[in-house]
Amino acid sequence: MNTYVTGNTIRQLREKRKLTQAELADAIGVSSKTVSKWETCKGLPDISLLQPLAQALGISVIELMNGQQIMNKNISANMMRCKFYVCPICGNIIHSAGDALISCCGVTLPALEAEEADEEHAITMEQVEDEQFLTVCHPMTKEHFISFMAYVTSDRIQMVKLYPEGNAETRFRLRGMGYLYHYCNRHGLFRMKIGGLRKK
Ligand SMILES: [Fe+2]
Repeated sequence: MNTYVTGNTIRQLREKRKLTQAELADAIGVSSKTVSKWETCKGLPDISLLQPLAQALGISVIELMNGQQIMNKNISANMMRCKFYVCPICGNIIHSAGDALISCCGVTLPALEAEEADEEHAITMEQVEDEQFLTVCHPMTKEHFISFMAYVTSDRIQMVKLYPEGNAETRFRLRGMGYLYHYCNRHGLFRMKIGGLRKK
């Protein structure tokens, strides 16, 4: 991906809109020579011109920077494939329905890869009324704790924030197939596949 609009992009989009260099230049208040320079990589439009340039070319600034018209393919629609990102500095938790470039505290965060819980991070489930009471038998000190638990199904996510000195437990009303996630600040993300609610 380009980090800034390129001359090639401007030329292609201008030709697609059937605009001459002079017409495009008029629309954004520069000379046709300036547009020509951009298109031949002898100059770049000032950042203040990106919005009017995008408007004259009939696309968004993001598309202009990206070099192509973006069609929403809605490929991030299935929550079951959602991602979690956790900032190692401030502990921020970010959830995304699809791939994203996330940064926090100046750090680019990788999408966490969940693994099956080992003995130290195993979840126990107990049915209480129409909910599941979930417990992780795990330290909850300031240095080593479970930071959140989440229940994800195809159309929604429930997240519970947990805190040091508190209990590593919560309740969820299960709604069919899904995944239970929990995150340990030292050992990372764990995931468990679960079925639906066992109705009484
Ligand atoms: Fe742990």
